[in-house]
Amino acid sequence: SISSILALIAAYLFGSIPTAVWLGQSFYRVDVREFGSGNAGATNTFRVLGTKAGTAVMLIDILKGWTATNLAYFIGISVTGPQSSIQFINYQLILGVIAVLGHLFPVFAGFRGGKGVATLFGMILAIHFEAAMVCVAVFIILLLLFKYVSLSSICAGFAFPFSVSVVFHTPIKSILLYGICICVLVLITHQKNIERLLKGKESKVYLFKHK
Ligand code: G3P
Repeated sequence: SISSILALIAAYLFGSIPTAVWLGQSFYRVDVREFGSGNAGATNTFRVLGTKAGTAVMLIDILKGWTATNLAYFIGISVTGPQSSIQFINYQLILGVIAVLGHLFPVFAGFRGGKGVATLFGMILAIHFEAAMVCVAVFIILLLLFKYVSLSSICAGFAFPFSVSVVFHTPIKSILLYGICICVLVLITHQKNIERLLKGKESKVYLFKHK
């Protein structure tokens, strides 16, 4: 229908908002893609511009994914009855992934975006809150232990299909299917990070400065 096409376009446009690039350019006169890892994401903003800017980018990028995913409410399927709620979640999954693709290939920033972690998290938050909390826990524990955001992101990505199936026994197969796609996507966007991790050359992030 026309409303679902509009929602898909809107999801791509939401995902395309290049928060890291625009925030860096407007407030610091810096394109974060020219420094650090070269990535237009929250982590590299944190690295290049500091905690305040990094946190702002993270929150806005999460909000992007969450909002795009919830555009499913405007498609106008009724959310009563088990079958329609599955259909609703399927729309959410498609919209979320489209937003992540927007973040990776933003029309507003020369199609050079980020790795999609915060946007993916926003999507997961909108679809399965409890599994999202498991992902956060995995992310924080690994970050505190090893100090690599990339490693924490990859493992948090894997925690999603694992927790929806093994911990929460979701009966909705598409969540698991998309969860597996998320793992593949996260591995693809983190190829360079994986190479650096294997060579012991990945940069670490210290949450507490005294370390
Ligand atoms: O959110 C992306 C993160 O996992 C890695 O970012 O800048 O270290 O490549 P970066």
